[in-house]
Amino acid sequence: MLETIDVHLPGREYQVRIGPDLLGQAGTHIAPLLTRPRVAVIADATVAALHLETLHQGLTTQGIDMVALELPPGESTKSWPHLQTCVDWLLAQKVERRDVVVALGGGVIGDLVGFAAAILRRGVRFVQVPTSLLAQVDSSVGGKTGINASQGKNLIGAFHQPALVLADTAVLGTLTPRDFIAGYGEVVKYGLLGDADFFEWLEGNGAALAAGDMATRVEAVRRSVQMKADIVARDETEQGERALLNLGHTFCHALEAATGYSDRLLHGEGVAIGCALAFELSSRLGLCAQEAPSRVRAHLKMMGMKTDLSDIDGDLPDAAHLLELMGQDKKVVDGQLRFILARSIGGAFVTGDVPRDAVMDVLEDALAAR
Ligand code: GLY
Repeated sequence: MLETIDVHLPGREYQVRIGPDLLGQAGTHIAPLLTRPRVAVIADATVAALHLETLHQGLTTQGIDMVALELPPGESTKSWPHLQTCVDWLLAQKVERRDVVVALGGGVIGDLVGFAAAILRRGVRFVQVPTSLLAQVDSSVGGKTGINASQGKNLIGAFHQPALVLADTAVLGTLTPRDFIAGYGEVVKYGLLGDADFFEWLEGNGAALAAGDMATRVEAVRRSVQMKADIVARDETEQGERALLNLGHTFCHALEAATGYSDRLLHGEGVAIGCALAFELSSRLGLCAQEAPSRVRAHLKMMGMKTDLSDIDGDLPDAAHLLELMGQDKKVVDGQLRFILARSIGGAFVTGDVPRDAVMDVLEDALAAR
């Protein structure tokens, strides 16, 4: 059940390999990249407790030595202090320009370690071993790396493509249901932004996916990664089309800021709510059929996902404040908010032309329904 997706970036092409039990075979996959049989692994401590030994054994079978650093789980690890910890440790381990660094964990570790690899000795290669659904379908592919600033998320970083991505779909079985389903927000996003058939497939197969059916999980990750790889190959540095991958993210980032980047709202949950709001806004602007937002919300609800602002516990700021938080988004161009809207399910597009009042109305109604 091994699927391989090629990311076609001239001079920096790499593969995303997807399937169960890849951790135990990591040595076979990573060995061809090495000039000496040694890798430095940086892992999320929670993930390390569950999977580092399997990775170690997978490397040992191919005679590859491993040194490992564990970092605390959570978004606050994507910070200057932990970046320094990573870089200092990699230098102390005498990682050289031709060595390979391995990131074992979810999106936080992938982004942080990828950025450390980007700046260490002006760039060393790294392998992404994403262990969350979100990281497998989104953040491990495409080379966005970085840390958060006090002014906002992901504001410091670099494009640095991995040399290989190993997405072990068996590992998804150790995620909490909440983390798994939050990552599903990014899976649905692909159907919504560019592939109505995939969305329909998810409507039919979402339940099996959530229940743990491995073939369905591999297929969902494969189709998501294929879409991402195609978009990244056409627009690596987000001059245009890549922005479609941010469907739902302008709303999401404002909601994450409003909830303090805490576990009141996980990123994938915010993406799901954001997608629902983006379709609501599109419908109100007369861009897509009125049925489209209801169909999006019905599927998200069927999957047990957060869909509405009422699904977020605790207080939220008013619509004007949320709109202001949207303005902090790094996708603002010349001070103008850019939205990803949709003409249909599977038909998203980027626009800077959204009346402020229309966004305010959507937010006010969503807040009033709480
Ligand atoms: N997560 C959006 C992107 O990689 O462009």
